[in-house]
Amino acid sequence: MTTGELAQGSLGQKIKRRIRRAMGPWGVFLQGFVENPVMVGSIIPSSRFTIARMLGPVNWDRCKLFVEYGPGVGTFCRPVLGHLRRDGHLIVIDTNPLYIDYLKATITDSRFTAVLGSAADVEEIVRAHGFDHADYVLSGLPFSTLPSGVGPAIAAATHRVLRPGGAFLVYQFSAKARDYMARHFTRIDAGFEWLNVLPCKLFWGWKD
Ligand SMILES: C[S@@+](CC[C@H](N)C(=O)[O-])C[C@H]1O[C@@H](n2cnc3c(N)ncnc32)[C@H](O)[C@@H]1O
Repeated sequence: MTTGELAQGSLGQKIKRRIRRAMGPWGVFLQGFVENPVMVGSIIPSSRFTIARMLGPVNWDRCKLFVEYGPGVGTFCRPVLGHLRRDGHLIVIDTNPLYIDYLKATITDSRFTAVLGSAADVEEIVRAHGFDHADYVLSGLPFSTLPSGVGPAIAAATHRVLRPGGAFLVYQFSAKARDYMARHFTRIDAGFEWLNVLPCKLFWGWKD
């Protein structure tokens, strides 16, 4: 690499860092999207309206372990921690190291664990952290653009990891996730949130 290329590289990094700092979490989210649009699937984080609707049916008294797939920059993590009991735990799983590093650096709550990995491995991850099952699993994954076979595998693993009476909470721009959920969850409640970029479909799959 020439000195010119090195200088250009570090200038690029400097500009990225400045943009990120100026835009806060949105800058980090945008960088993740620009670097990996297929896996991130959205240009900005979910709205507060989506968060409130999605978490509405959760029985927080009965929630010891809440798991989130695809937390991004933590849009849902802070509201979840706000509701979670003092002896509860939130495990978030994301394939993007940029987001996991950001979450580890910005959320210091002792009930919070950020794991770099795939949602498909949720059972191993939950067990590795000392739990037998999860009470609720929330997903912001872009199911329609995930590599072939990954979406169905995640839906199956999620059903296995949930306790009876627990729920799989899913928000997505398309209804693809519902097809995968329907193979395992007999009761799926559905909703729609207009006040989100883009408006999104909401699903709550309840484990019998
Ligand atoms: C649309 S973003 C959701 C962001 C955030 N939850 C929100 O509501 O603003 C999708 C996230 O899923 C993550 N992701 C994609 N495939 C994944 C997988 N197999 N396991 C875990 N996370 C994944 C991406 O890295 C990204 O952070």
